[in-house]
Amino acid sequence: MALLGRIQSELAILREKDQFRVLRNLDKSDLLNLSSNDYLGLGSMPELREEFYKNLQNCPTDETYALSSSSSRLLTGNHPGYQELEQALSKMYNDRAALVFNSGYHANIGILPALSTKKDLILCDKLNHASIIDGVRLSDAQFKRYPHLDYKALGNLLEKNSGKYENIFIISESIFSMDGDAADLRKLVELKQAYKTTLIVDEAHSVGVFGATGCGLAEEQGVLDEIDIIIGTFGKAFCSAGAYAIMNETIRDYLINKMRSFIFTTALPPVVVNWSRFVLSKIIGMKKQREYLFKISAKLRDGLGTIGDSQIVPFIVGENAAAVALSEKLREAGILAFAIRPPTVPAGTARLRFSLNAALTEKDIDKVLNLM
Ligand SMILES: Cc1ncc(COP(=O)(O)O)c(C=O)c1O
Repeated sequence: MALLGRIQSELAILREKDQFRVLRNLDKSDLLNLSSNDYLGLGSMPELREEFYKNLQNCPTDETYALSSSSSRLLTGNHPGYQELEQALSKMYNDRAALVFNSGYHANIGILPALSTKKDLILCDKLNHASIIDGVRLSDAQFKRYPHLDYKALGNLLEKNSGKYENIFIISESIFSMDGDAADLRKLVELKQAYKTTLIVDEAHSVGVFGATGCGLAEEQGVLDEIDIIIGTFGKAFCSAGAYAIMNETIRDYLINKMRSFIFTTALPPVVVNWSRFVLSKIIGMKKQREYLFKISAKLRDGLGTIGDSQIVPFIVGENAAAVALSEKLREAGILAFAIRPPTVPAGTARLRFSLNAALTEKDIDKVLNLM
């Protein structure tokens, strides 16, 4: 069969390049997990789950704990937990409108295709996450990538293209998922204002972790109200699942009507939505965990002599096989730190991606440093 032949040879190439991926059933119980995105360590706080579930015995049929919504949000899937979660998010983000999605991937593949047309231009940081790239590809707009965090290049692109399109969108992550470095959101806001563009920022790796109340890097850098659309996810620091966007009411109404990955999918299970709201109420006050996380992240970064501004600490090895070998060496010593290879990162920059969480101890960091 032509198809099988083609994909078999592609798989053989992946194996040759040490890029073949497999799903593993890892027993993580004996491993020190430095690959999780549970940045605040909420998964290691059984008391939180106990508190959340404490009413369950009394009312096992309570919709709060239902395991399926059985429908899209525009049909019968819009259970009351959504409104409560969106209201809590609105309150957290200075009364701006909030909309919850099934995942960050759903958010990123849906927002740009809904909002942009072929008369528009999208300017995208070169290292933006794959879900953003997929959203850009699904949209009808023209797009250009600017070199990673190079705002001079972005300014030049804006200067060159301003007036040639109906709308220009700038889209960037705030904390970059594979390098752990931070966008200069103030600079992006300046450019957005100077060229009257729409600015979208994906804060997947910074909500819960940055900002006095955990709203993310936009809060930390004082530009929370200046960014047109802020995307946050619940699958990382929130230890839940799903995502949200913060924006104005008009954009929210438009997305509800036009965003295909919002409309044509079964809504999240109520229990997940309610857990996200429960966690959100806790995260706002977790300043101590945030400070501690920065402390151990700086310790690991300094010890490794590596780059980054966050709890994501990359250790760039270069070749795929060498990164896999280092990951194996750590695994044998009881440490889980995955090797990240192309196409997730550029060729020749295979790395270990340490992602730290507030449940780790300083001794854990010492253990890693001693092995490197
Ligand atoms: C920057 C960024 N945006 C979006 C996503 C997707 O979020 P989710 O896992 O909720 O689909 C990820 C996931 O890793 C991410 O790193």
